Amino acid sequence: MQTLIKNIKELVQVEPLSRKATVPLGQGGNYQPKLRAQGKEMAQMETMKDAYLLVEDGKIKAFGPMNELSADGCGAGETPALQIDATGRMVFPTFCDSHTHLVYANSREHEFVDKIRGLSYEEIAKRGGGILNSAKATAAASEQELYDMALQRLEEAMRLGTGAIEIKSGYGLTTESELKLLRVIRRLKENSPLTIKSNFLGAHGIPMEYRGHQEDYVDLVINEMIPRVADEGLADFIDVFCDQGFFTVDDTARILEAGIKHGMRPKIHANEMAISGGVQVGVKYNAISVDHLEQMGDAEIECLKGTDTMPTILPGCAFFLNLPLSPARRMIEAGLPVAMASDYNPGTSPSCNMQLILSMACIRYRLTPEEALNATTLNTAYAMGVSHELGTIAVGKKANFFITKPIASYEYMPYSYGENKVERVFINGVEM
Ligand code: NIG
Ligand code: FE
Repeated sequence: MQTLIKNIKELVQVEPLSRKATVPLGQGGNYQPKLRAQGKEMAQMETMKDAYLLVEDGKIKAFGPMNELSADGCGAGETPALQIDATGRMVFPTFCDSHTHLVYANSREHEFVDKIRGLSYEEIAKRGGGILNSAKATAAASEQELYDMALQRLEEAMRLGTGAIEIKSGYGLTTESELKLLRVIRRLKENSPLTIKSNFLGAHGIPMEYRGHQEDYVDLVINEMIPRVADEGLADFIDVFCDQGFFTVDDTARILEAGIKHGMRPKIHANEMAISGGVQVGVKYNAISVDHLEQMGDAEIECLKGTDTMPTILPGCAFFLNLPLSPARRMIEAGLPVAMASDYNPGTSPSCNMQLILSMACIRYRLTPEEALNATTLNTAYAMGVSHELGTIAVGKKANFFITKPIASYEYMPYSYGENKVERVFINGVEM
């Protein structure tokens, strides 16, 4: 079945035109969409004014200027079953949120108040709060309860314009509890139309009983958790919180090696609290992304150059914890790609709002709107391994897009921070 969106004021983040040449590889053409944008390319973002978008069977079939709509024949004579007039409105590809901890049991506003009163995130973690606080509540919750809560959060993210999302475990910290979280993610994958990737983050916190001998917990992750996770095929990625006060570079290397052996690609937390060596160990094991990066020296930037690893900044976390800002401009000027994701979690970023991340990218990190859009669509799609099928408006890609409320320009999206500018969301071509 076909759906036609017509009279689009501006179609945003379209694959570089020649549009007519955008017949993708798999469909007999020779066009290969760009998988990520780096350095100067981040400032390039194409749009098309007064456009149409044609969807067929969940994929983008065609797009172009309205005055070519009849000439394009809208799919060989077929009249689209559904036609939507988007006059005054823009169409964007949905955001890809490549870093979330969406499955958890409890909010943590008491710690939020402790932080306002002066305690640091690390101090709270040391006394058994933080991640361990969430782990306790998560252990007590049933799989069904966790699923219901997660599904509701997923719906909220989608309403705000997210069409693909990566979700980590990591609030289990025992084999059974980690498996429970990953099974919840598997059910979300099965039942939600969103594109979802799962990430096993058993090495997220060090349980109290392992304090002083955390290598035994690392052994548990490697010898018991990873094989069980792999047996059930529960994770696409393997993650470690490689940072001061959490897991060391050696712990990280051991865990990543075990994960890789079991078919999981690394994707790690690094340099939130301190320059931890996390970027280097991530790059060494060909991580698809290294995330956080509040602390970045020249060596970290150097070591990312020429690699397949996507540096990913989490503006919500730095905002919520009042952390130093990752040097996004310096990274882009060094020729690196930059992605920005929500880090949605109860401890450091309790918001799944990617529109807000887009605004923060511009306001706090001085990215231009074009760079910020590349950071939150194409580059986050890359960071979750789906940029061949999502992240831009391209013929043959999944038809995940949103129609905005009437807005004046695409720059209005980051400019108008804290407001929901999304009116209608389409996932796999179907209105949600
Ligand atoms: O990405 N930094 C590590 N993990 C999460 C926070 C988890 C929590 O505090 O619950 C993050 O910020
Ligand atoms: Fe995180």
